[in-house]
Amino acid sequence: MGSEKIVVLGTGGTIAGVAQAGASSLDYRAAQWGITQLLAAVPGLREAAGCALEAQQIAQLDSKDMDLDTWRRLALRCTELLADPLVRGVVITHGTDTLEETAWFLHQVLAAHKPVVLTCAMRPATAPFPDGPQNLLDAVVVVRTPGAQGVVVVAAGVIHEAQWVRKVHPYRLDAFSSGDAGPLGWIEEGAVRLMRNWPLTQAHQAQAAIEKVMRCSTWPRVELVFSHAGASGAIVEALVQGGVQGLVVAATGNGTVHAALEAALLRAQAAGVRVLRATRCSEGQMLPRPGDALPAAPGLSPVKARITLLLDLLQ
Ligand code: SIN
Repeated sequence: MGSEKIVVLGTGGTIAGVAQAGASSLDYRAAQWGITQLLAAVPGLREAAGCALEAQQIAQLDSKDMDLDTWRRLALRCTELLADPLVRGVVITHGTDTLEETAWFLHQVLAAHKPVVLTCAMRPATAPFPDGPQNLLDAVVVVRTPGAQGVVVVAAGVIHEAQWVRKVHPYRLDAFSSGDAGPLGWIEEGAVRLMRNWPLTQAHQAQAAIEKVMRCSTWPRVELVFSHAGASGAIVEALVQGGVQGLVVAATGNGTVHAALEAALLRAQAAGVRVLRATRCSEGQMLPRPGDALPAAPGLSPVKARITLLLDLLQ
């Protein structure tokens, strides 16, 4: 009979980054330190965990290069860990750039009746005052919190839900926002202050989704296009010719699309390509109007709508 543990999965990012020279937080290479080295550099982490801490390296990449096969590996590993009665919860270290996408992917494929906490850093591990150690400590505090469950993001003392979190700043330490939904909570002096209930997971839907992810040998091709002043349908036409299966359009305002682009998207839809609209606006939610010709993804940013469509298209 083993003892309780928290498992920390490393995937790379600036949190594992090493500066090239001096104290610069810009001139560095992400994804250099292994997860074991990263954990060893956080004073008090083992005490905060209050149980065994196990480190596993799932990937070592700059999250701008995140890919579907890494997502699959991460999701399968999380599924195994969540099913292990000795695992209290999972922490994932990740780059900030696509953190919100990984969080949304995992939210949809994991029946997370335990906490799965993604965390990150804006400064490399070798910075004179790195933010990664505090974020890791806070992530462990969240896992330890009684009743914690679901996929959440922890950064700069704030807890965000997978659906609402977005990276909104390229430099400052508090780089994430949950828009007008607001934070799920905060970590203050080693304790969680929660604003609402922990996210609920749709266990049946997540189970069906993870089974599709496990079975899939080729990922469907789903691309993003942008509606903007002067847009045309040329990109959509090229993508349809190239065999795209799904298209998400980052639409203006309340889901409107430039007439030329919309015409091409309607032709794509008529030809069997799944099309979804998601608003470019960073706050609020699209309100679908009766008679809209292209389906909407209210409450999802374009990158998250793309993931939802991708999972929908998996056979
Ligand atoms: C990354 O996303 O892997 C690099 C940038 C960061 O973590 O802040």
